[in-house]
Amino acid sequence: MEHKDKVVVITGAANGIGAQLARDYAAEGATLALADIDEPNLTAVAQELTADGVRLISEVVDVADADAVAAFAETTYEAFGRVDYCFSNAGVISVGAIWEEPLPDWEWLWGTNVMGTVHMIHAFIPRMTAQGEESHFITTASIAGLLTVENSPSYVASKFAALSLTEVLELQLQDAGSPVKAHAICPGIVKTDLMNCPRHRRPGTWDPDDPYFGSADFTKRLAAATMSMEQVGIPVEEAVRTIIQGVDDGTFYILTHPAYNPAIVGRTQGIVDGVRPSKVRR
Ligand SMILES: NC(=O)c1ccc[n+]([C@@H]2O[C@H](COP(=O)([O-])OP(=O)(O)OC[C@H]3O[C@@H](n4cnc5c(N)ncnc54)[C@H](O)[C@@H]3O)[C@@H](O)[C@H]2O)c1
Repeated sequence: MEHKDKVVVITGAANGIGAQLARDYAAEGATLALADIDEPNLTAVAQELTADGVRLISEVVDVADADAVAAFAETTYEAFGRVDYCFSNAGVISVGAIWEEPLPDWEWLWGTNVMGTVHMIHAFIPRMTAQGEESHFITTASIAGLLTVENSPSYVASKFAALSLTEVLELQLQDAGSPVKAHAICPGIVKTDLMNCPRHRRPGTWDPDDPYFGSADFTKRLAAATMSMEQVGIPVEEAVRTIIQGVDDGTFYILTHPAYNPAIVGRTQGIVDGVRPSKVRR
């Protein structure tokens, strides 16, 4: 029970990877601070775990809102006094051609996937550093932060940004002599609720009547992404076991799909060889 009584913060805890992280840490006796914008599912996860005797708080928080994230950190420290593992995990996806994907899409997606992590770093890292003991800040990036895939430009670019942000975080924590360790999770495809994420769009983040969302291009790309998740996604339980083990092992780049390793090496080799980007093959 390595995680007994550890305090674990998880954003995006209402579904998918975040909910499974909550269940697995809870099963080992951890205390949880859970955040999500999906109130019904967050309540369901919190009720399920509370019924099992888990000590937790859960809050509706939009990670794109810096003040809301700061308030969540405040509540977490008031409730538990420290944080051992902080997962900046909330994320959304979209598909499209770069020059056609509506601009509000980019702002919504980057607000969550990039600024959400910036807000978590601002709110939690100074307090975690002040604890003076080893703790862990974990960003859920993606294999799409290491390999470019052609279908989801706003998502891929946001995950490259989230990954490099976490790399810089690790370097700056080292420079500062902070006891906090950073980690970047880079999952391949995992069966979760991710493709349904538009249901959480805040008003103003899109115009559902924008003709692009009814176009053949968008429909085709969305169908391809949804089919990949259904056909080749690994179970979330398997992915989360690998993630928790990776954090415990002190791994920085936590990869869930070794089948992509040759493509990662190939991309790096292609860069130094001056080769033009090509589609990823597994
Ligand atoms: N599923 C995959 O194949 C896969 C692969 C690589 C990386 N990821 C990443 O894993 C993370 C978790 O995604 P998932 O696959 O479990 O999907 P999911 O949709 O099941 O879970 C994501 C959660 O984030 C929440 N969320 C979305 N926007 C939010 C916001 N602004 N503020 C707070 N919460 C918000 C959603 O409500 C949802 O509960 C994401 O960052 C995603 O990009 C997923």
